[in-house]
Amino acid sequence: VSGAGTTTIAVGGGGGSYDVLVGHGLAGSVPAMLSGAASVAVVRPAVLGRHAAAVTDALRAAGVAVTEIDLPAGETGKATDTVVGLWDTLGRLAITRSDGVVAVGGGATTDVVGFAAATWLRGVRVVHVPTTLLGMVDAAVGGKTGINTSAGKNLVGAFHPPAGVVVDLDVLASLPAAEWVNGMAEVVKAGFIDDPAILDIIEGAPSACAVPDGPAARELIERSIRMKARVVTEDLREAGLREMLNYGHTLGHAVERLEDYRMPHGHAVSIGLVFAAALGVRAGRLDTDTAERHRALLEALGLPTRYPGDAWPRLLDAMRLDKKARGDRLRFVVLDGLARPGILEGPPQELLDDAYTEVAA
Ligand SMILES: NC(=O)c1ccc[n+]([C@@H]2O[C@H](COP(=O)([O-])OP(=O)(O)OC[C@H]3O[C@@H](n4cnc5c(N)ncnc54)[C@H](O)[C@@H]3O)[C@@H](O)[C@H]2O)c1
Repeated sequence: VSGAGTTTIAVGGGGGSYDVLVGHGLAGSVPAMLSGAASVAVVRPAVLGRHAAAVTDALRAAGVAVTEIDLPAGETGKATDTVVGLWDTLGRLAITRSDGVVAVGGGATTDVVGFAAATWLRGVRVVHVPTTLLGMVDAAVGGKTGINTSAGKNLVGAFHPPAGVVVDLDVLASLPAAEWVNGMAEVVKAGFIDDPAILDIIEGAPSACAVPDGPAARELIERSIRMKARVVTEDLREAGLREMLNYGHTLGHAVERLEDYRMPHGHAVSIGLVFAAALGVRAGRLDTDTAERHRALLEALGLPTRYPGDAWPRLLDAMRLDKKARGDRLRFVVLDGLARPGILEGPPQELLDDAYTEVAA
């Protein structure tokens, strides 16, 4: 039941269409996204039980049998054990293809629950209720699901677009500021690759944009979701346009790998964005003012933009192992100007080395 004050952002494309709703007190809109379901599993970490309860109540009020299922919060929950446990529970509950699953949590939670939903009976409906900024603007939108295994992070997964995404801004009240700032790296990325108004908003009031209850929070979230919705509508399976979402991520993923995934994703992406901007300049494609703007904005939000100089050889090795590398040629998203993403393929070693001096602490 999304009334006045709710924004609807449509996602289309090959995998099925769905809406992303943004607003306040939206738990009541979940039942309609799972219409016809007799039984629904609501999966969430215990710490987010309060946010999930509203969804459970709304489903029960609509006559649906609901079982709440616990999983470990954060990255620990994004594991094979969790998926096996979820399969067992979905079996016990006799969840059929006409039923559904709801994931309430950050990106780690929506990724693992989405993967369980993608694989149970070869795919049951899932509604994502993201509770972090990163989840709202990135992980919950676009249909990518996945888990971490001993082989690495996010190597096992499936494309499984949700039946709907409910971005209830009320959940941000409990979100720690550090988690908000982490998600802001993806918001800044959206600004540079597609929507410079985002950058103007942040530059106008950086400290107000570094907290979840700032006046521009909703606009930043909606603009970022619109960008992602547009891109994944055109390209669900990373065959073309979607690659631009990787801006800042080639080096970012390498940093995460070197840090054993203990550095927050947004911090690694922030460092990666400064590197990608420097690459653009060194390749003669981006002006220095726009590149400088990356660092200034990210630092104003409290995000890191430097990394140890002596880590460079290991970062290069890690980039060559990235699952998105093609053969042994490194590919980077760079800018040919503000909101003009392009590809830089197989840059010469000197250019890479030179760009890293912008990041080296
Ligand atoms: N599928 C995709 O396209 C995609 C895109 C980007 C990131 N991801 C994945 O997302 C994950 C990171 O997501 P994340 O940053 O949301 O981290 P997260 O899911 O680990 O959540 C971070 C922490 O915040 C807590 N939390 C969440 N919401 C809260 C709230 N409202 N109030 C209080 N605490 C709250 C969580 O319990 C957790 O401890 C990674 O696993 C990454 O691979 C996936």
